[in-house]
Amino acid sequence: MQVSAAEASRIILQICMLAPVIPVLVIRDAAHARPLAEALIAGGLPALEVTLRTPAALDAIRAMADVPGGHVGAGTLITPNDVRAAKAAGARFGVSPGATPALLDACEAEGLPLLPGAATASEAMALLERGYMTQKFFPAEASGGTPALAAIGGPLPQIGFCPTGGIGAANAAQYLRLPNVICVGGSWVAPGALVEAGSWAEITELARAASGLQG
Ligand code: 3PG
Repeated sequence: MQVSAAEASRIILQICMLAPVIPVLVIRDAAHARPLAEALIAGGLPALEVTLRTPAALDAIRAMADVPGGHVGAGTLITPNDVRAAKAAGARFGVSPGATPALLDACEAEGLPLLPGAATASEAMALLERGYMTQKFFPAEASGGTPALAAIGGPLPQIGFCPTGGIGAANAAQYLRLPNVICVGGSWVAPGALVEAGSWAEITELARAASGLQG
């Protein structure tokens, strides 16, 4: 079923408001997916982004899709094929580093609400023109960090952002303090070494600290 850009943005806004942080996950072994999701949800982070950067990613989404309390999305959506595969695997939302007309068309046609990426005022304006009120600011730190995002919020205060890229425990709260930031995304709550080691209790602790962050 199709979803309009405006409706997609409303759904994405609700997902972004679930917690201050959306974990960005790179999963190499689909067997890790379910316990990882359970660990993050137990720590208070229900919205999860599985990046389509590993061969295991789609199986990971399938394994996580029915974990109670979770909202599992697919990240690193680049092509319409990515969108169809993510939707078929059970992703409830999508995230992309940037946006192209073909990608936006595919998400709207497939009914996959998208958090589309923008790094400049012109990119944000193009998405806004199409109806995307909720956007990812990427790559956040490399694009100027909090001063850049605060400056974009001057003329474009109606856009709510999820900044991602270079954000960690040390700087997340600075982003969350900005009025145009809804939540932040980042990989720091699920470090590869802890995932590979199956250190789920440690990951729950990282998630708990992240879910308690305030702007
Ligand atoms: C990404 O797409 O890799 C995200 O922006 C995560 O970035 P991070 O690893 O710097 O948190």
